[in-house]
Amino acid sequence: MIGFFDSGIGGLSILREATCRLPQYSYLYFADQARAPYGNQSADEIYQFTEEGVNRLFQEGCELVILACNTASAVALRRLQQEFLPQRFPDRRVLGIVQPTVEELLKYTKSRVVGLLATSATVRSGMYEEKLGNSVLLLTQACPLLVPIIESGSHENNEFREAARGYIQELLAKDDRIDTVILGCTHYGLVADVFRELVPPSIYVLSQGELVISSLFQYLKRHEELEKRLKKEGRVLMITTGK
Ligand code: DGL
Repeated sequence: MIGFFDSGIGGLSILREATCRLPQYSYLYFADQARAPYGNQSADEIYQFTEEGVNRLFQEGCELVILACNTASAVALRRLQQEFLPQRFPDRRVLGIVQPTVEELLKYTKSRVVGLLATSATVRSGMYEEKLGNSVLLLTQACPLLVPIIESGSHENNEFREAARGYIQELLAKDDRIDTVILGCTHYGLVADVFRELVPPSIYVLSQGELVISSLFQYLKRHEELEKRLKKEGRVLMITTGK
């Protein structure tokens, strides 16, 4: 199977694209809802939780795991790839979603001034800036109130809209040349329409689902050996540590 990992329901915004565009594969989705949100926790905790989740997905038979979570991708991916995989699962793979987002970004921005809405941990990690280098000026805004509201299913309330509006205003006030805003948390991708309503129409709102799946498709084409080991039964299973 292909495993998908997130702290909660956010990664479903990526899984949805996977099941539409690559329906032949079997997917196992793991949501660590008992410990969500990750975005306000320390880097050590985020690493620990992510390693446990990935370990579980491997134990359940996944050959490849996508960290469908920016926070885990930004904070934990490198150490998983450099230490955990070589020591424990040398023939399995873990991919993140920051790199594919950054690779596609230049197709969208003309001004090369881009805004990032994300969790506090993703912003603190500086991973987007590191991957972008000098190609783009990135302005960031942490949005700590949003994931708990989305996770509780009450994002249709005014509270969510008002919090999102406030964060967007703060971000856009940082530089009036911003022409693209990255929804750099997969939870936001679930409610991308709300962000699109709140951001001025001249600014492009980039949600990650499609970008990440195009990149996964390319990855599988390049790694035939791994692709051959994947089941083609078109099943989707889900595990949560919560309710
Ligand atoms: N969906 C996640 C992300 O993309 C994690 C959000 C959280 O748990 O704070 O960052």
